[in-house]
Amino acid sequence: MSGDDGPNAPDGRSAWTRDHAAELRRDETNVTPIIYPPSERLDEDLHVWDTWWLRDRDGSPAEVNGCRVIVALTASSDLLPGKRHDVATLRYFYSTDGKSWETGGRVFEAGMLGSRQWAGSALHDDGDVYVYYTAAGTADEADLSYSQRIALAEGGTISPGDDGDGVDIDGPWDHSVLLEPDGERYEREEQSRGMTYTFRDPWFFEDEDGATYLLFEANTPVPEGSDACGGDAAQQEFNGSVGIAHSPTGDPTDFELRPPLLDAVCVNQELERPHLVVRDGTYYLFVSSHHHTFAPGIEGYDALYGFAADGLRGEYEPLNGHGMVLTNPANAPFQAYSWLAYDHGDELLVTSFFNYFDYDRPSMDDVALLSEDEQMRRFGGTLAPTVRVGLDGRETRILGTLDHGHLPLARESLPADPFAGADDAGGGPRYY
Ligand code: FRU
Repeated sequence: MSGDDGPNAPDGRSAWTRDHAAELRRDETNVTPIIYPPSERLDEDLHVWDTWWLRDRDGSPAEVNGCRVIVALTASSDLLPGKRHDVATLRYFYSTDGKSWETGGRVFEAGMLGSRQWAGSALHDDGDVYVYYTAAGTADEADLSYSQRIALAEGGTISPGDDGDGVDIDGPWDHSVLLEPDGERYEREEQSRGMTYTFRDPWFFEDEDGATYLLFEANTPVPEGSDACGGDAAQQEFNGSVGIAHSPTGDPTDFELRPPLLDAVCVNQELERPHLVVRDGTYYLFVSSHHHTFAPGIEGYDALYGFAADGLRGEYEPLNGHGMVLTNPANAPFQAYSWLAYDHGDELLVTSFFNYFDYDRPSMDDVALLSEDEQMRRFGGTLAPTVRVGLDGRETRILGTLDHGHLPLARESLPADPFAGADDAGGGPRYY
């Protein structure tokens, strides 16, 4: 339910409420250290932002030919960073040590759906690769549109590179639309009353009983005149949700919509890149969201938010009471974004990308006021330091950081000095 006066039938969804979000604040548990540019970007020729690791069915990073592999949204680094979403292209990178990455190339050469491809996930299943992605706009459209569908590319494989080193991801791929909004549980674009519309960011999830799901970012329909949010029309535009679809057969190419796991009606418009970590029977649901997508009257942050439940369908309660797990420091509020957490035994490891640094204006909108040179200079365009997070029941605490883009496998032990990866930060302040 979306709060007491929410628009939805009691179909099992949990709510992130204004009461929860009213408690959001930076404190000594949730602020990441300041990030300084690394000596090298992941690839100097590319802007790299939303990133996900090729994963095995159980959610852990896959290892193929001794390499772990990431897929990322990319664009030429000649491009003004703000334009990158309009030309986003999926590329893959691989690494033998999880620290230094080689560019593998484009995941798809042709045939992909959408005028550009946005975030998703990539499943490794016995040498086969399934890439779930967002088809944004339609191929060959004359003017860019913001329609979104959840797409699948199947038929790909991953194998050792030609000289025996590294990996090659190859087609031929078969692209299809997997999911579109139904207009009832999931808003269609033409129903949208908000500043942005979302139906994107598919995340493959296999539960411990083998049941197979896709999570995604969506919006809950809130018709005009609804009594949601006490009838406050401005708040009603904030209607983000975490959607879920189930594969009745376990086939990773066949999904049916189910009611959302969680929504944030009257609270927030974009619950981005939802994903789950299951530990000791507790389901931890994570999303990224922005300062500017919170409803009027709520002070939120560009941050990773989390919720916990005893079962997949909930009921989810915000971690730490309010939901915020980690955020950027006040003097660099947009330095990282698009966080993804995975389990590393005693800790969670959280990856993200290095966004705008040396920039402390109140809103990202002001980036456009900078000269083009400054917009280029202040955009990180590479992976951010991985953040180590301690998890104790429904409470979290930042423990430290690893290097930019460091992606350890489960069996690797982490440095005893929790801030070992912050050394290249020039000894800057760790909090605030
Ligand atoms: C988050 C995000 C994703 C989307 C991508 C587009 O950073 O908004 O939800 O897929 O960026 O670039």
